[in-house]
Amino acid sequence: LAWQRAAKLAEVPEGALKAVEVAGEDIALCRVAGEVYAVSNVCSHAFALLSEGTLEGFTITCPRHGGQFDVRTGRPLRLPAIAPIASYPVQVAGEDVLVEVED
Ligand code: FES
Repeated sequence: LAWQRAAKLAEVPEGALKAVEVAGEDIALCRVAGEVYAVSNVCSHAFALLSEGTLEGFTITCPRHGGQFDVRTGRPLRLPAIAPIASYPVQVAGEDVLVEVED
């Protein structure tokens, strides 16, 4: 595992979703109540990019079939999503958002 720079903090505004690629992983970043979270950007149900969905509080809604996940844990919250998505440790270092991924 290694900490990798994923984005500038300014690129992750409160309440928005940002797609990034870190070490070959598609990751969705978001900031909720001042904290930055990183989860897989690919839905666990079928193929869809969660960064193209919506974020309300800690809940991300898939644009394809409306499955929902908690951005803090990747836990599925609503059908048809039943499998969790990966969630990644995040650290903010100055202006940078770092995500811990397999290297
Ligand atoms: S692809 Fe995301 S809920 Fe179906």
